[in-house]
Amino acid sequence: MSQHLLLPFVILAISPIPGALHDSALSPTQEEPEDLDCGRPEPSTRIMGGSEAQPGSWPWQVSLHQRGGHICGGSLIAPSWVLSAAHCFVTNGTLEPATEWSVLLGVHSQDGPLDSAHARAVAAILVPDNYSSVELGADLALLRLASPARLGPAVRPICLPRASHRFAHGTACWATGWGDIQEADPLPLPWALQEVELRLLGEAACQCLYSRPGPFNLTFQLLPGMLCAGYPEGRRDTCQGDSGGPLVCEEGGQWFQAGITSFGFGCGRRNRPGVFTAVAPYEAWIREQVMGSEPGPAFPTQSWEPQPSPWEPTDENCTIALPECGKAPRPGTWPWEARVMVPGSRPCHGALVSESWVLAPASCFLDPINSDLPRDLDNWRVLLPSRPRAELVARFMPHENASWDDTSDLALLQLQTPVNLSTALRPVCLPHPEHYFLPRSRCRLARWGRGEPEPGPSTLLEAELLGGWWCHCLYGRQGESVPPPGDPPHALCPAYQEEEEAGRCWNYSHWSLLCQEEGTWFLAGISDFSSGCLRPRAFYPLQTHGPWISHVTRGAYLEDQLTWDWGPEGEETETQACPPHTEHGACGLRPEPAVMGILWPWLAEVHVAGNQVCTGILVAPGWVVAATHCVLRPGFTTVPYIEVYLGRAGASPLPQGHQVTSAPPLLCQTEGGSWVLMGMAVRGSQELFAAIGPEEAWIAQTVGEAHFLPPNGYPHWPPEGSDLCPADLARASGSPQAALLLLLLLLPLIQG
Ligand code: ARG
Repeated sequence: MSQHLLLPFVILAISPIPGALHDSALSPTQEEPEDLDCGRPEPSTRIMGGSEAQPGSWPWQVSLHQRGGHICGGSLIAPSWVLSAAHCFVTNGTLEPATEWSVLLGVHSQDGPLDSAHARAVAAILVPDNYSSVELGADLALLRLASPARLGPAVRPICLPRASHRFAHGTACWATGWGDIQEADPLPLPWALQEVELRLLGEAACQCLYSRPGPFNLTFQLLPGMLCAGYPEGRRDTCQGDSGGPLVCEEGGQWFQAGITSFGFGCGRRNRPGVFTAVAPYEAWIREQVMGSEPGPAFPTQSWEPQPSPWEPTDENCTIALPECGKAPRPGTWPWEARVMVPGSRPCHGALVSESWVLAPASCFLDPINSDLPRDLDNWRVLLPSRPRAELVARFMPHENASWDDTSDLALLQLQTPVNLSTALRPVCLPHPEHYFLPRSRCRLARWGRGEPEPGPSTLLEAELLGGWWCHCLYGRQGESVPPPGDPPHALCPAYQEEEEAGRCWNYSHWSLLCQEEGTWFLAGISDFSSGCLRPRAFYPLQTHGPWISHVTRGAYLEDQLTWDWGPEGEETETQACPPHTEHGACGLRPEPAVMGILWPWLAEVHVAGNQVCTGILVAPGWVVAATHCVLRPGFTTVPYIEVYLGRAGASPLPQGHQVTSAPPLLCQTEGGSWVLMGMAVRGSQELFAAIGPEEAWIAQTVGEAHFLPPNGYPHWPPEGSDLCPADLARASGSPQAALLLLLLLLPLIQG
């Protein structure tokens, strides 16, 4: 069930409670119990702040079951009363029938024989009238048990605070539950109760943390009756399935319930502490509901005088936590760069993603024929920056789809000993599934997998991310709809300037894509073999793998999106479908203008006789159209030496002494967004074009794969003032065969 602000989730970084239930006699050292003794677990060897806890440590914790399964937590406050969260019982504004629920008391591990545990049916569920949804507060519920609980060492009530009770900010309190151990990562068997120490955060501090805009500008307003507990740096928190469970604080040997687990943004995220329903403000409501039942809950008076100082200092300064991952002294010096050495093969490049785990392509280690797991882990070594010695590998965990799905070519390697992080050695940040790398993000290509034998300058290639729509449609099918921002994209397209020598296809090398947000680097994608030489290349996004990585590593640095400014217009094209495409990609799609000039992916530089440069247009994988006058000079009897450069026109300056001599081609945009080559400038003119249309037959015959728009796909004329295309094409002149030249490229552009 579990509601949440944005994402579903529960208790993080809580150590399991080992051992079996054991009953022992309780020494009743009560002080002034009101109606009944409360808040005193059996005195035990429990170590506060440590990771060892014991069954029976939290005897008021109950599990609320519906249809045989744990849904929410709760706390026993009197023999016949359990306190929980309203949202556990209200679906679409309707209170679920009490008969569907049962309460499990005195339970530690929910798997196996529930020895000292017992269950009670629920007679009634009471929710405040003003409860509507978690973000609006009043998220509490009272459950009246059909018959009183059997109190004993493992089943005892918690004390409730009076309305005047003050819990000091910074107090270390404990939350307990059987909820998820990370976002979307359920508690594994044997489902033992988890505990986590959380610090109470002041209202101002909490509001300040939450006011830091997050992904999609989602923030929320902390309301009276709510309280926050956790840490700015996150990592310890409650999560989905913990709701309704107690947040308890010890005062003078007695435990009081300060809060009820209510909601959060994700679980354990930075600057997103858990939000609880504060119990103290509901003293009157609780008393009213339980009136007449004997014994009722205990509201012991606070043993110390609450400070007269304002209980919420407004000047509380807000200490935002900054990401621990993804900081690099300078691009190329990557503190997460890991090289995995396996005897008999070249080093495999990967990335450190936590203190203990390295992510690398599984294909480095898996035999493609028999997908047996490698057995010689003892001989593997991992080289990390600033570490004097190589690390030993304890575990190898390939992605389950690694051997047949390129997008999942990933494996995690656990180091035998976790490393101490420093400025020179730190993990790269990983994106959450809803991460959206903004168009124009600054990215770099980094080595990945077996890479190139020599780390050429290409390892530092700078790139700029194209918008999701462009990237999707450059590779997508006609009519395909584009995932909206926030949905995991199918591909990430960095537009980058390739170096001369690197201009060949990197078909056999792997690259990773690192993208920067506010100075923090994310591992955004891994290279995609299937895109051949189409430019810009597509990378497989990594965000879909976040849940797998955090499930395996239990501590990888997943980060929220750090920049979310999509500009006033956002992604205008987000809901559109893709325009026509050819077998080799979408034709006529121009990536949105890059910061440094316009990148037309079909533009070719045709270098004639070493110095003359004119414009060519890629019309099929092996064919470029150029103006005849550019290539064939009067008086020439032979075809000159011609070189064609692709994928860089408009992005890089021409070499010294070269200049483009031919006027640009005439391109017009159709209503569907595709660009169509309408004409090539005739010699000496910027306005007169040789029309392509009449030559369709000639081009089609010569270039089998050229893509012509269907008859209805003609360009539309943009409104006045737009200078995309001249309004009058009538001046386009004929005699195209004299004006047009098709160049056959010798190297096939598309391989693999
Ligand atoms: N609403 C969740 C539940 O139903 C509890 C979420 C708590 N989340 C958090 N980040 N503290 O179990």
